[in-house]
Amino acid sequence: MEGFIDAMEEFNIRLITTEEEFESVVINAMVKEGWRPGLKDAECYLACDPTGTFVGELNGTPIGFVFLAKYGENYGHIGCYLVRKEYRGKGYGLKIFNAALANVKPSRSIGLSALQDKEQMYQRSGFHSHFNGGRFVFHLPTAVVCFSESLEQSTVTVKCIDQVDQKALFVYDSSVFGFERRPLLSKWLRVYGRHAYVATKEGAIVGYVVARPTFVKEDGYKIGPLFADSESIAEMLLKALFEELLQQEKPLQWSG
Ligand SMILES: CC(C)(COP(=O)(O)OP(=O)(O)OC[C@H]1O[C@@H](n2cnc3c(N)ncnc32)[C@H](O)[C@@H]1OP(=O)(O)O)[C@@H](O)C(=O)NCCC(=O)NCCS
Repeated sequence: MEGFIDAMEEFNIRLITTEEEFESVVINAMVKEGWRPGLKDAECYLACDPTGTFVGELNGTPIGFVFLAKYGENYGHIGCYLVRKEYRGKGYGLKIFNAALANVKPSRSIGLSALQDKEQMYQRSGFHSHFNGGRFVFHLPTAVVCFSESLEQSTVTVKCIDQVDQKALFVYDSSVFGFERRPLLSKWLRVYGRHAYVATKEGAIVGYVVARPTFVKEDGYKIGPLFADSESIAEMLLKALFEELLQQEKPLQWSG
């Protein structure tokens, strides 16, 4: 890989630790790539792991980055892997990626969500596919009338997130996600502009959903996580969320 990089060029990899720089380097590049980051993602990501954002600089100019968040002792999550278009295919991305990996214990499990056309690339770094996911864009007025009356309506209650015990929510999240991620959630669940609902059944949490406004206002909101013990609970949560969002000033689209 070294052979691709001009020997006269100086390439360094360092951490991004301030929200200001995260926004100007990472968030702006994600917007250009059409990734629709959240309005306060810089705050959330840095709260999740202040030593997880690796940026590659060529002759002092940031050209690419990756975020590897350490969750607890045993898990790491990779996101925001991006190199500026004009610098792609020259070996810089892999260098940044490997620098981030080298920074965590080899015993840590690492996960990521990959675009389908990047599956083989990640396999070469030792990743295995576990499931296929989808990305959906909702037109709210159309979507909100599509939810059928839930069969579980009589037993499940949907509440605003502020009305439930946060610790119980952390426990529920870990049981679904597989690893504890309290530093991220502590910020994510309270971040500016968020809308969030929790479903409970006989007092126990059986699902929750969070939507956050996007960095580019016209992009609307992003939904995630949406965890639910059944499809009908997921529908109840989305319905409550969509109804609330419809009360807000008119966004153009909604993605989750
Ligand atoms: C994906 C991306 C970050 C890679 O950066 P890059 O600088 O172009 O990649 P490199 O030049 O370092 O790649 C060199 C080689 O390493 C491979 N490689 C790059 N990153 C890798 C990784 N994380 N694991 C394994 N292999 C990797 C490349 O496929 C390439 O292989 P090849 O020589 O056989 O074609 C860049 O192409 C990009 O920004 N793409 C658009 C955003 C995107 O799709 N991000 C990934 C989201 S899942």
